[in-house]
Amino acid sequence: MIYTVSKLSFILAALNFILGRFSISSAGNVKSAIPDIPEIAKYFGTKGRYEEVNPYLIDDILSVNKSLLKPPSPDCNAVHLTALIRHGTRYPTTQNVKKMLNISSLVLTHASGNEIWLQDIKTKWNMWYTEDMDGRLVEKGREDLRHLAVRLATAFPTLISEGNLRGNRIKFMTSSKHRCVDSINSFKQGLKNLWKIEDMDFDHEVNDELMRFFDRCRRFIKDVAQNSTALAEFDLFRSGAEMKSVREKVAGRLQIPHTLITTDSVEAAFYVCAYEFAIKTINSPWCSLFDETDAQVLEYSSDLKQYWKRGYGHDINQKSSCSLFHDVFNRLDRIANASRFGDVTEAVTVQLGHADTLLPLLSLMGFFRDDVPLTSDSYAAQQNRTYRTSRFVPYAANLVLVMYECSEGLRLQLLLNEQPLAFPGIGHPAPLYRAVREAFQDLLQGCDFRKECEMP
Ligand SMILES: *[C@@H]1O[C@H](CO)[C@@H](O)[C@H](O)[C@H]1NC(C)=O
Ligand SMILES: *[C@@H]1O[C@H](CO)[C@@H](O)[C@H](O)[C@H]1NC(C)=O
Ligand SMILES: *[C@@H]1O[C@H](CO)[C@@H](O)[C@H](O)[C@H]1NC(C)=O
Ligand SMILES: *[C@@H]1O[C@H](CO)[C@@H](O)[C@H](O)[C@H]1NC(C)=O
Ligand SMILES: *[C@@H]1O[C@H](CO)[C@@H](O)[C@H](O)[C@H]1NC(C)=O
Repeated sequence: MIYTVSKLSFILAALNFILGRFSISSAGNVKSAIPDIPEIAKYFGTKGRYEEVNPYLIDDILSVNKSLLKPPSPDCNAVHLTALIRHGTRYPTTQNVKKMLNISSLVLTHASGNEIWLQDIKTKWNMWYTEDMDGRLVEKGREDLRHLAVRLATAFPTLISEGNLRGNRIKFMTSSKHRCVDSINSFKQGLKNLWKIEDMDFDHEVNDELMRFFDRCRRFIKDVAQNSTALAEFDLFRSGAEMKSVREKVAGRLQIPHTLITTDSVEAAFYVCAYEFAIKTINSPWCSLFDETDAQVLEYSSDLKQYWKRGYGHDINQKSSCSLFHDVFNRLDRIANASRFGDVTEAVTVQLGHADTLLPLLSLMGFFRDDVPLTSDSYAAQQNRTYRTSRFVPYAANLVLVMYECSEGLRLQLLLNEQPLAFPGIGHPAPLYRAVREAFQDLLQGCDFRKECEMP
């Protein structure tokens, strides 16, 4: 029996190896040595796969880098963990499906050429995305969260433990959006599977005030979301020279008159490549429409949008997250107080939201800030920008704060996507909590959601 199982796993591993190196045509024969990861996969922005940020997970999705995720010093004891998590891999939104339909029918009716990838698009690929998919979580997205739960439990076994889960010391909160609710349920399921819990279910709180604060901030809605000039830099870039060159190159590869290829359609084709990879882990023939430079231009365009809509571009973008910032720090303050009495009972809080939840908060706290703003005419000058969403907000992106009791006092460790993240302006990788409070004292004493967001 054991022999059979190991033989089977050997065959599976061998098959996996082969599938990992070659794309297999529908007839089953090995067609060519096309890797299953598109070369442009690291430029997908917020549509990127979590594994591109942490490539060691490709070989073992449950592996935890213990040398990265360890206490600040051996005498420290983890007493609390808060995790702010973006939902997992999802279907395109209705709006984007419409654009994907547009470009796919244009290619089917107008494109010509003998390239294999074009033949594959025309004869083997079918447009399987439908409007009713509506941004829902896909199966890969459920896995993203189940696996993340297991890895976090492995990394922090005293906090994310069966005892704490059963004892109600792990709190769950989510945005009301279906993909977030499905994500938090998958996270819970990951823990239940890990400990083979079948006799219990675990509640979550739906809280849009905290997890979708951007919908509640009237000033943000008026000044940015509904303001046709707030994203002017993004609009200018989309109609500028770099994007024009991408449109012309794409039109040339398809042999379609470039007047028929809009920025919308170029973006939609890029999305098809990104979604086919994120959802099905395949290197779609659509990816062959783009070279690395094209992908970098499209990445910059998407970063510009996030920068002006969710990031440093407008002050209110960041300030709209004041409520979530205070929610997290009020909790840490409670932990700090309880710790003085040796009485910490809030072990873990898991809060599920969106890229739109994480991006404003990361900006508010000063992460990934460039010296010079991202603008429509700074594509070349911003080659080395730190505001590169492909690197820090893939699907299932997560910001984890861990509080430790150490001999010198409480320390706070920050992890972004399971890697240490230094607080801006603080050298220590896990500073004393009072040093963190000092660094953020302006926000702790101000950053009033009501004052910032209410309109006269
Ligand atoms: C774990 O992290 C260390 C320190 O950054 C790094 O040197 C090592 O390569 C990582 N291990 C894996 C498997 O990625
Ligand atoms: C689809 O393409 C047509 C023709 O180019 C255009 O008028 C329409 O607005 C496009 N629809 C979407 C959703 O992009
Ligand atoms: C819209 O955005 C522009 C650019 O940021 C700003 O100057 C203008 O005041 C905003 N308009 C409204 C109504 O908020
Ligand atoms: C601090 O913790 C103690 C013991 O748990 C509690 O009685 C007290 O109300 C807390 N104070 C604050 C300000 O939270
Ligand atoms: C970006 O970084 C590379 C490597 O450090 C450097 O050669 C290049 O000049 C930088 N580009 C810009 C625009 O700063």
